[in-house]
Amino acid sequence: MKHGFPNLTVIDHPLIQHKLTHLRSEETTTDAFRRLVKEMSHMLAYEVTRDLPLENVRIRTPLAEVAAPMISGKKPCLVSILRAGNGMLDGMLELLPAAKVGHIGLYRDPATLEPVEYYFKVPSDIANRMVIVCDPMLATGNSAVAAINRLKDHGVTTVKLVCLLAAPEGVRAMLERHPDVPVTVAALDDKLNDHGYIVPGLGDAGDRIFGTR
Ligand code: URA
Repeated sequence: MKHGFPNLTVIDHPLIQHKLTHLRSEETTTDAFRRLVKEMSHMLAYEVTRDLPLENVRIRTPLAEVAAPMISGKKPCLVSILRAGNGMLDGMLELLPAAKVGHIGLYRDPATLEPVEYYFKVPSDIANRMVIVCDPMLATGNSAVAAINRLKDHGVTTVKLVCLLAAPEGVRAMLERHPDVPVTVAALDDKLNDHGYIVPGLGDAGDRIFGTR
């Protein structure tokens, strides 16, 4: 754990690192960017679900009867922090097709960088599910902290945060406010700039996913 954050897992698999380099490049087109986010979301989903509980069920192979493991309990709930979180949903859902999905709309006030909520819709039984919050960029951490505050207000007790990139400031904010929430990322970058962007980063994830700039 080179970075020293006990709440942080950096997935340094060569495939994810290779794709991240393409994602960062300003030459990457919108359609390639979306495809890369989806592919990286597959790998992040794979890692973040490592500890899903299993139970043995009895099945018959063509050769024998066997007790074999299947995921047990209620299906997880993915929560996308709008709008960039939606870019990760398709990939995550391909690995977790039975997951429920919630959305939390937050925008950053450009002056204060504080999150302002404009939308909140989650499954009514979310308190009984493991929740995986998807937000590509953990920058100041303000949005992720606010979203997880709201989820905990709804009774959620098991939350994980999955991001493409994080800044140390965001990981620290999560550690201070939600030390029980593990954070999984493809890379921990150097810092935030004066506008709250991650450096070197990849720019504005929402704009790059949706081609709005
Ligand atoms: N949000 C983004 O989309 N990019 C950043 O670098 C920081 C926050």
